[in-house]
Amino acid sequence: MHVGWSGDLIVTASMEKALLRSAIVVLAAWTMLIGSGLVVEAPASEPPKGAERIVIPGGVTGDVAFPHLSHQQNLENCDICHSLYPEEADVIDRFKEQGKLKPKAVMNQQCTACHREKKRSGLKAGPTTCKGCHRKD
Ligand code: HEC
Ligand code: HEC
Ligand code: HEC
Repeated sequence: MHVGWSGDLIVTASMEKALLRSAIVVLAAWTMLIGSGLVVEAPASEPPKGAERIVIPGGVTGDVAFPHLSHQQNLENCDICHSLYPEEADVIDRFKEQGKLKPKAVMNQQCTACHREKKRSGLKAGPTTCKGCHRKD
């Protein structure tokens, strides 16, 4: 006869089966509760990290109000942008000062390139005019 060890208790094979059965019953009840909406599961995914809106310094033409969260939601892949600069606050300005990014590189290679491309394809796009992005307030 198979005998398992569980704390101070000797568990026989038949006891094990009974335990297993009650575990299955509990699991089934739990599944039904979740299905009925009585038990709320944790959200499947955390909201993306990073600020919802970011003001990017835009030199003499004026700062750029960038809706970060909506881009995260629309574009899914963070690397579309963060392959050029890491996920850090004020990194674009810092990289430009350190010569790791040329002025307007992000604007030309990412922002306006994508907006133009989307527009050409007849899709929803962001601004393509200077004033659409740069604000002189
Ligand atoms: C369309 C371009 C774009 C996409 C896509 C994007 N980001 Fe960003 N992200 C930026 C820009 C621009 C900044 C600001 C950099 C700066 O201030 O110099 C930034 C800043 C950040 C920061 C640091 C600033 C803060 O908010 O605290 C984090 C963290 C971040 N992004 C995370 C993410 C994650 C995670 C994703 C994917 C789910 C993502 N980003 C997708 C463009 C993008
Ligand atoms: C889709 C948004 C967008 C549009 C449209 C846009 N810009 Fe920009 N621009 C940015 C962003 C973001 C930056 C900062 C990052 C960089 O330098 O690449 C920037 C940076 C700049 C800079 C500062 C470069 C520096 O570091 O000194 C100038 C000047 C500039 N833009 C001029 C223009 C002009 C002129 C137009 C219209 C022909 C224009 N931009 C259109 C987003 C935009
Ligand atoms: C890979 C594509 C892509 C890149 C890169 C991208 N955008 Fe956009 N952007 C979009 C799309 C698509 C929309 C339209 C979203 C919508 O209206 O649902 C948009 C919309 C916007 C809007 C208008 C939002 C509104 O509520 O009207 C601004 C401002 C903007 N983008 C700025 C930027 C800036 C600044 C950058 C560069 C740091 C950038 N975008 C990079 C695709 C992109």
